[in-house]
Amino acid sequence: MLVSGRELLARAVPGRAIGSFNTYNLEITRAILRAAEAKQTPVFLAAGRGALDAAGFGPLSQAMLAGAREATVPVAVHLDHSPDVETAVRCVEAGFSSVMIDGSGLPFEANIELTRAAIAATGGATIEAELGSIPGDEDRSGGKAASIPMTDPEQAASFVAETGIESLAIAIGNAHGLYSGEPHLDFERLAALRARLPVPLVLHGASGISDDDIRRCIELGVRKINVNTEIRAALFESLDASLRAGVKGYDVTRLMSAAVAAMQAVVEEKLALFSDG
Ligand code: G3H
Ligand code: ZN
Repeated sequence: MLVSGRELLARAVPGRAIGSFNTYNLEITRAILRAAEAKQTPVFLAAGRGALDAAGFGPLSQAMLAGAREATVPVAVHLDHSPDVETAVRCVEAGFSSVMIDGSGLPFEANIELTRAAIAATGGATIEAELGSIPGDEDRSGGKAASIPMTDPEQAASFVAETGIESLAIAIGNAHGLYSGEPHLDFERLAALRARLPVPLVLHGASGISDDDIRRCIELGVRKINVNTEIRAALFESLDASLRAGVKGYDVTRLMSAAVAAMQAVVEEKLALFSDG
């Protein structure tokens, strides 16, 4: 069933985080929703503007919403990393139940202004913003740089107070894409952010972060965790293996079923980790 992002965040009780998984097409959408149903766990089904532009806004957004409505578990359909108010409004008008506005590349005051404008224009549907900078590209993996600047706890407290945002994506050494070495998360900073902020904290760039570090993040107050690259990696690996094995007769159904199963397995593993440690 389609529910609000707000409702999902309310389910993220201590010791648990809600998973947010990015889709680009029908098969990835199916893999995410099947995993959520198999685990009987709520999820954020997310897409960024790049994915919506590439697949076609209507087809992808409608597939996400239809999948969420049919699902036997609560699903929030989420716009990830919206760079502007217009995309946020377009998604809310289409039926998205959760929006992230991302002004993290802007100066502090401009980020506040953009975030406030998004909250006002979406009638309060905007629930997540970002402060500090999470490096890397959301849609493709390259080498990850160190996450600089990281989120400052004092500044984050003012940001939340001044915007009224309901959850905050933080930069503590996390990055989008695959990490070139071991990621080093700043857990002291995370604890300080948790102590200062009255809203759920969101960890982006979770692909490649060890299970132990994910558990520690949850213990220290992270309540939503975003995963994208590891799902795309499973898709590519599955397609590569199927094509090398020689799927006969240009059988699209067989080719894509194997890919869906591989992606579903990744999402199921993450859901188990986020829910049960
Ligand atoms: O917003 C999406 C995520 O932050 C995903 O990051 O591709 O490193 O898993 P990832
Ligand atoms: Zn992200």
